[in-house]
Amino acid sequence: MSAPVAIVTGGAGGLGTAIARVLVGDGFRVALLDRHGAVEAAAGFGDDRGGDDRVLGVPVDVTDEESVRTAVGRVDAAWGRVDALVNNAGVEPQHSVEGLELGDWQATLDVNLTGAALMIKHCIPPWRRAGGGRVVSIGSRVWLGGGSTASYSASKAGLVGMTRAACRELGPLGVTANVVAPSFLRTPFNAVKGDEECVEAYARRFTAASPLGRLVEPVDVAHAVAFLLSDRARAITGETLHVAAGTQLAPRID
Ligand SMILES: NC(=O)c1ccc[n+]([C@@H]2O[C@H](COP(=O)([O-])OP(=O)(O)OC[C@H]3O[C@@H](n4cnc5c(N)ncnc54)[C@H](O)[C@@H]3O)[C@@H](O)[C@H]2O)c1
Repeated sequence: MSAPVAIVTGGAGGLGTAIARVLVGDGFRVALLDRHGAVEAAAGFGDDRGGDDRVLGVPVDVTDEESVRTAVGRVDAAWGRVDALVNNAGVEPQHSVEGLELGDWQATLDVNLTGAALMIKHCIPPWRRAGGGRVVSIGSRVWLGGGSTASYSASKAGLVGMTRAACRELGPLGVTANVVAPSFLRTPFNAVKGDEECVEAYARRFTAASPLGRLVEPVDVAHAVAFLLSDRARAITGETLHVAAGTQLAPRID
């Protein structure tokens, strides 16, 4: 049997690359789908011959259904199967509710929520052919505790609701759908929050808030994703797994 195939959206980003590395280690062929830098990120997995036939870079804009259809079609045509989808592309425009611009609201939901639903839709044909599949969508601890901008928290809470609905519809096809919800990660994502010192202050606050006294690393999230994509998780669906070092909990008050 040929190696299973996983699509990772936002695959050129900090977490996407970490997920791809763990999945390649687990024997997957991985398609990195990204709006920017997908081909370059895939080349970065290569050896000195300048390539690795287990990793493919495919440009996509997850907010554009035609682009999604084309990208999933390219992966299916190249490798003849799509077993797993990791909805990882995400953005977090900075805004207050009082100063909310409709464009920021819409842009956040378009990528983080609508994009994930479109990706699932276009992976269904290969899953029907294979008699099953897997979805893991990358949420955030803020779905539960707030703590970020309103559009971002709403998009990540929406991802949980969408996943719970999708897992009912897709279960009879043999597809599981789950969410992995991380806390702060040191990736380019947080550059929108301010300069390096500001991001480091964030990191210190997260470390102090964690019962484990530690930050989460992208590889910690990648291992949770790999588990949910594996046969060991075949009976888990509709679940939200926090990989947040305990920072999803209410602060200790006693
Ligand atoms: N970094 C954190 O602190 C943190 C915490 C919790 C959850 N997350 C979530 O983790 C996921 C990955 O984030 P990251 O930290 O790797 O950030 P990142 O900025 O390094 O990567 C995000 C990737 O998404 C891609 N992307 C954005 N819009 C897209 C679009 N329309 N189509 C296709 N690709 C698009 C970007 O080009 C980028 O490569 C996101 O969903 C984010 O919400 C991140």
